[in-house]
Amino acid sequence: MESREPVRFTVCLALLAVISCAPRERDDAVVLTFPVSAVGEERSILARQLRRFEDEHPGVRVATIEMPDDPDPRHQLYVQWLNAGVSEPDLLQIDVIWTAELASAGWILPLDRFAPDVRDTFPRVLEAGRHDGRLFAMPWFVDVGMLYWRTDLVDHAPASLDELTARARDARVDHGLVLSAARGEGLVTVFVEMLGAYGGEIVDARGEVVVDSDAAVRALEWMRDAIHVDRVIPEEALSFREEQARFAFQNGRALFMRNWPYAYRLMQASPIAGRFAVAPMPGTPDGAPTAALGGQLLAINARSEHPDEAFALIEFLSRPEQMLERLAIAGQLPPRPSLYDDPRFAEASPIPAHEAREVILRAALRPSTPVYGEISRALQIHLHRALTNQESPRAALSAAADEMRARLAHASRPPSAASSATWLGWLALVAAIVAVGWLAWRARALTREERVAWGLVLPALLVIALFAIVPLTLTFAESLHDHDLRAPWRGRPLVGLANYGELASTPRFWEALAHTVLFTTCCVVLEVLLGLALALVLDATRRWRGITRAMALLPWALPTVVAALVWRFLFEGDRSFASDALVALGLRDEPFAFLSHPSAAWIPLIAADVWKTTPFVALLLLAGLTSIDPALHEAARVDGAGPVRRFVHITLPLLRPALVVALLFRALDAFRVFDLAYVLTGGGPGTATEPLALYDFQTLFSDLRFGYGSAISIVIFACTAIFALVCVRVLGAEETRR
Ligand code: GLC
Repeated sequence: MESREPVRFTVCLALLAVISCAPRERDDAVVLTFPVSAVGEERSILARQLRRFEDEHPGVRVATIEMPDDPDPRHQLYVQWLNAGVSEPDLLQIDVIWTAELASAGWILPLDRFAPDVRDTFPRVLEAGRHDGRLFAMPWFVDVGMLYWRTDLVDHAPASLDELTARARDARVDHGLVLSAARGEGLVTVFVEMLGAYGGEIVDARGEVVVDSDAAVRALEWMRDAIHVDRVIPEEALSFREEQARFAFQNGRALFMRNWPYAYRLMQASPIAGRFAVAPMPGTPDGAPTAALGGQLLAINARSEHPDEAFALIEFLSRPEQMLERLAIAGQLPPRPSLYDDPRFAEASPIPAHEAREVILRAALRPSTPVYGEISRALQIHLHRALTNQESPRAALSAAADEMRARLAHASRPPSAASSATWLGWLALVAAIVAVGWLAWRARALTREERVAWGLVLPALLVIALFAIVPLTLTFAESLHDHDLRAPWRGRPLVGLANYGELASTPRFWEALAHTVLFTTCCVVLEVLLGLALALVLDATRRWRGITRAMALLPWALPTVVAALVWRFLFEGDRSFASDALVALGLRDEPFAFLSHPSAAWIPLIAADVWKTTPFVALLLLAGLTSIDPALHEAARVDGAGPVRRFVHITLPLLRPALVVALLFRALDAFRVFDLAYVLTGGGPGTATEPLALYDFQTLFSDLRFGYGSAISIVIFACTAIFALVCVRVLGAEETRR
């Protein structure tokens, strides 16, 4: 063996040499990285435009990275990259609501130094690219919420929300109105439009949160009633994002749809092509017809190594020609007002220029604040709760307003004087030295044998220390800090147990804890009962043993995410397999959207876990069953004991250790459930099925509150550790008894 090592080394060296000498294409080119969207034609137009840019700038190449189109995961990725301080991606396509956050964290470059020409830009759209009086992002395309209507089913677009309801009630298709009402940013944009229609706002001109006003309550009541009283919005829309709304509308299932302009072009190649038109969203006499202003801007990573080239690309993509091409192919509206008078606009745009311009000029911006993500999520949760009848609109908005005010106040608090607690590090070091000293002192008193034994377990102990104790200690230390990645200027002050105090006074935490306990109890009880039954059947099966066991294990072999998706498809929407089954069995007269009901959403969640993990429990119990001596059963039978008595007096007592192990494993696993809930229900509707681990994930990776999130992690750890200790005790007692 040894003699081969030099040969292997030489081969590796040679390979390295070959790789590094191989001619590289345009070696000296500057490479700009740019994450992009992949929906519809957006990607192909951009590819074309980037090729033209490269031809114009021979020294620059653009490498694109495909990104999720949903704003929430995209934002999460950006924050992870930017917070890590890496120089890539150079260019960022950002949502209009992110400027304040990315700029105040110092993650994107102010563009003033490039003296961009922004004279021909809608003022409101330009405002979305500004923070603290400086321009940080260049408008790329504008999104405004619009009403799509079926020209073959109604003869004109509704002029008011009342008219919309009236017409939608008589719709000759499945649904009156579809829109994006899943718990997400899309729901906030829809709400902004309803708010405007009723004369309300999220934040007023003075920056005060006014989302709990009477007008806002009326707007939310309209939305709730549209679902539950007038039944013009289907319940399944509570899990729709923009794309699902488009699918329902383009498949001819809805009379009206609220969506962005991008949907127009895509639907021209759909079953309803030529049978729909677009109009401004209607209003009420109390307010004004309102469109939410959305859209995308282009910004430069503050750490980019090629800011000049990146700006050259921004400048190129913002030229009128590229914007008109984008309009013609993807239907996305340009932010340059002058283009709306250009004859090419009329040719390119599916929406008449004057109408589009009017809507943009009146469009409502969402609040601009570095903590927009957090205040928006607070609003999303309460809106969704109100729409699923878990809270009244007034209670929902008042709770949302309180949370939003608290987050805004927290973010504007000046950095605390106490800087990051290095003393905690010192304390940990001293504790470690004391522990090692104590161990060494104890080691003197050990016999030779004991020393050898300790020597043998030492490597395992070191590994456990490295991978469990160290991260756990760091997480605990983190939980004593107020560390908010969204407000990096505030530093990382030590706050003692304040995060735990906040946890104790947060209803969402207690609810998540209750959900976790409920989920764990239901799943473990069902799994142990069904697992036992399955194990008994498998044990009794004499023929095709191998195959039956393999088949029974199949669900367990599937990755949880796949299993979760399968169960979601079975229960999602009102045309799901599960809904059809209810109707076919006569249990309901009309379709039922399981995932839009706070209690019904638990059914697929628990069923999926039971389906997936029962085989695992069965396998554990089967091992226990096979270790029971058949002679015991034989003897009992001879003594006249029937199968039930034998099961109760022989099988069950001897199976106890296996049962305890199964219980322990399953309970610990179920208590930490994350992936199943994340994929299947997303914790919704509202937060009705949110377990602790999902709440923790959202706090850490969406809200980016690392201190508070770490406190939740520690609580999860403490609960599972206590439970495990109790179980191990019980098991230990069992063993000694035997
Ligand atoms: C669109 C809009 C964006 C908005 C998002 C909500 O992408 O451009 O501004 O936040 O939809 O889903």
